[in-house]
Amino acid sequence: MPNHPSHPQVLISQERIQARVAELAQTIARDYADAEGGILLVGVLKGAFIFLADLARALPVPNAVDFLALSSYGANGAARGAVRIVLDLRASIRGRHVLIVEDIVDTGHTLAYVQKMLTVRQPASLRTCALVTKPARREVGVPLEYVGFEIPDVWVVGYGLDHSDRYRTLPYIGALPAET
Ligand code: PRP
Repeated sequence: MPNHPSHPQVLISQERIQARVAELAQTIARDYADAEGGILLVGVLKGAFIFLADLARALPVPNAVDFLALSSYGANGAARGAVRIVLDLRASIRGRHVLIVEDIVDTGHTLAYVQKMLTVRQPASLRTCALVTKPARREVGVPLEYVGFEIPDVWVVGYGLDHSDRYRTLPYIGALPAET
């Protein structure tokens, strides 16, 4: 069995998350008030599915959703930081106002890949909203227009975030102790 507690220590409470999601939705709605065709929210699976579901429902402007799934190669050797796509968007984003929705930005490699890949497809605009960012871990610079919370370099789970696919449905963001 994994060596961690079944109830991780609360780092960001459910109440704080809900309040921040509501704030983000208001800010985004203001910024996109005149966006023709509304916003296309692009969720990066799996982790973003809960944040995206709440954000989409809180947004008081027209929005549609689509999803990407990516896979990272091994964490050592020449492939470090490499990303490949395992599920692509359903439709063209050309001329659409696209908002990438991520649960967490860590090294930045995943987001850098997604931003580059989507820019090539000529959206009308491309921005990113991440619930959580760990600036101390960044290896590649990525523009982040909307951020929920900056956190220290701890392993976080809950609200979509996992550890070996566990904990995603926790209503809060919890910290797991470093593995021994
Ligand atoms: C997580 C997260 C981001 C990525 C961030 O995904 O959802 O996509 O890692 O890390 P980076 O900034 O170092 O690239 P993960 O690979 O854990 O997959 P999951 O969302 O399916 O859990």
